[in-house]
Amino acid sequence: MSNVTVIGTQWGDEGKGKIVDWLASRADIVVRFQGGHNAGHTLVVGDQVYKLSLLPSGLVRGKIGVIGNGVVVDPKALMTEIDRVTGQGLVVTPETLWIAENAPLILPVHGALDRAREAARGEHKIGTTGRGIGPAYEDKVARRAIRICDLAEPETLDWKLDELLLHHNTLLAGLGAETFTKEQLKDFLTEITPRLLPFSCQVWDRLDEARRAGRRILFEGAQAVMLDVDHGTYPYVTSSNTVAAVAASGSGVSPSSVGFVLGIAKAYTTRVGEGPFPTELHDQTGRTLGERGHEFGTVTGRPRRCGWFDAVLIRRAVRVGGVSGIALTKLDVLDGLDEISICVGYELDGQMIETFPSAPGAQARVKPVYETMPGWKETTAGARSWAELPAQAIKYVRRIEELIEAPVTLLSTSPERDDTILMRDPFED
Ligand code: IMP
Repeated sequence: MSNVTVIGTQWGDEGKGKIVDWLASRADIVVRFQGGHNAGHTLVVGDQVYKLSLLPSGLVRGKIGVIGNGVVVDPKALMTEIDRVTGQGLVVTPETLWIAENAPLILPVHGALDRAREAARGEHKIGTTGRGIGPAYEDKVARRAIRICDLAEPETLDWKLDELLLHHNTLLAGLGAETFTKEQLKDFLTEITPRLLPFSCQVWDRLDEARRAGRRILFEGAQAVMLDVDHGTYPYVTSSNTVAAVAASGSGVSPSSVGFVLGIAKAYTTRVGEGPFPTELHDQTGRTLGERGHEFGTVTGRPRRCGWFDAVLIRRAVRVGGVSGIALTKLDVLDGLDEISICVGYELDGQMIETFPSAPGAQARVKPVYETMPGWKETTAGARSWAELPAQAIKYVRRIEELIEAPVTLLSTSPERDDTILMRDPFED
């Protein structure tokens, strides 16, 4: 029996929500280890629709949810989310939600700086979610973040706020944005402290106990490998590492606890925000994928850019992400297309290359080289066994496996939780 870590292999929004929900029902504890409320997924359970962005999905299934130290926590957003799901009948208490006391907080200065900087970047803007994720991670590595445990120490908080404001107000003023007073931040923290502190604990210790007791842990990644701050399309990335290795450091467990790494890949590609996207389609096929796949951002509502499956990028995500198997989602969106293309390499300045370059200029210039195969007329929506799939759809999946050098262990054929074809149970690996 193994733990399972789920990560996205593209630019996020691969349909992780449904897979994580399915796996959560088989786990005891579900852990978020990076990102913040920039993530978002929708879970449909019976007649209830839950929209989560910071809370681990396991809470919806009555499991223990954990927010690890690798997450940046916006306390207001967290409380709003807790209130919303509580209103829908979920029970969220310090027994069911554990938050790492060493997790850094996102404060109002972070959102303000994120938005002011994006506005100043003009045509080079990253297209962030504007939620202060980047500035909060910057403060963490610059050693000036306010962490949850600081809320219990007013004397520490006092000098840390001075340091934080000196930095942020200088930047905000330079960008022509409104600055903050110490009182504003103190009021903000005073209001959230009594609600937030009871959830905080030494997560690493409790997870270690859980491991010793043989409990199943699911690590729930947010964003995806192509948005990883090291391995993604830098600088058009998020500010955390999104690869599976971070499940360990982002929650305080041993690297061996990561277990089976399930990479989620959509049967085509989408991206929100700015940045290179070699297989992006600007034609009717791209619009069709967007409409059929309901491709709008869960967090910001922005329409997602759509394109063909890029096997080169995913092969890289498989290698750097340590992916043991792939969950391929939204295959049904391709139903009825005459032809389907897969990117198998790139052309860069007249030369063929087999890996994605690192420099942004080269990333923007690469031209995809496609392998095109006939589509299928039959519907795959709702298929629950391999035998129900059209032969051509099976060929497509098999070709993907060859190109990305990883097995498809799970196939999702509709948003319904049970419309899933399971080749291998990751928890039994
Ligand atoms: P940030 O994480 O708000 O700083 O945004 C940086 C980039 O990551 C932008 O392109 C966002 O659109 C993208 N991003 C952040 N979170 C998600 C996500 O959960 N899904 C897809 N894209 C995301």
